[in-house]
Amino acid sequence: MGKLHLFPEQASTFAPEVDLLLLFMTAVTVFFSLLIFAAIFYFAIKYRRKSANELPHVTHTGYTLEILWSVIPFGITMVMFTWGAAVFFNIARPPKDSIQIYVVGKQWMWKLEHMEGRREINELHVPVGRPVRLTMASEDVIHSFFIPAFRTKQDVVPGKYSTVWFQATKPGKYHLFCAEYCGTNHSGMIGWVYVMEPADYENWLSGGASEGTLAQNGQKLFEALACVNCHKVDHTGRCPSLEGVYGSTVKLVGGNTVKADEAYIRESILNPQAKIVAGYEPVMPTFQGLVTEDQVLQLIEYVRSIGPKPVPNAAAPNSPAPADNRTPAGAAPAKR
Ligand code: CUA
Repeated sequence: MGKLHLFPEQASTFAPEVDLLLLFMTAVTVFFSLLIFAAIFYFAIKYRRKSANELPHVTHTGYTLEILWSVIPFGITMVMFTWGAAVFFNIARPPKDSIQIYVVGKQWMWKLEHMEGRREINELHVPVGRPVRLTMASEDVIHSFFIPAFRTKQDVVPGKYSTVWFQATKPGKYHLFCAEYCGTNHSGMIGWVYVMEPADYENWLSGGASEGTLAQNGQKLFEALACVNCHKVDHTGRCPSLEGVYGSTVKLVGGNTVKADEAYIRESILNPQAKIVAGYEPVMPTFQGLVTEDQVLQLIEYVRSIGPKPVPNAAAPNSPAPADNRTPAGAAPAKR
């Protein structure tokens, strides 16, 4: 006889936190449900009508009682709120040193891409004990990326990037689901997460590196799509140079500014007229329909790879990075 599993395994740093909060809320709910039902039965019997001509007598408001049954539940719900918010903020904020993995959901599969270039479908390999940040996009409809053993669930919405992070605590194999009904084969949009020892993970990563890193593939695309003809490195092109742009604040026509993050770069590829950089003409055509979400992610990785490099602690924060640090990601230029 198998054991009855009420809860999935606890395999991430979030799992105990989330379970404890759930346990607390369940305990409070059970306690008050029992209390209220017991009171209903007790009062129904105690104050039942004992004879046909008995009249109810008037009672006056008990202020002490009213204050107590307002203040105590308020206190309890505020405990739930602050505790829940603390857990939520923790889940919403990936640590700086997280491993970055890209996820694209489409009817009906999960496509996952590691920075080093390995790609997988409906499988995700991650190392144990390291924070992993997922940046997720959808090619078509809303999906939801759900790993019960990690207590991680995040909607993946077309037209934007959603992020989620986790840190696995136990090597093993865990279920991965789509948790948002997304059409006929929604129930088949499932897979496995493999949590590996760090050394095994490194081995696994290097096993499929022949396709090039994400950033290298992005650079090849950047050349193949002829982006490079306008976005010239030496600022002589018709479009802004993209070196050092990632993460910076970009001035726009009309005086507004925007932070050059993933969402902004994605928008600039698919809807270039939305935000025009100050000093440039709106000449860029849209690449909507010409590039897939995977390719957009590769292009973003390329732009990130030629962005500002992390400045060593000793250097002044606003001193520019040395020029030789700014070589593009791909060592060899792509041939077409
Ligand atoms: Cu994708 Cu349900």
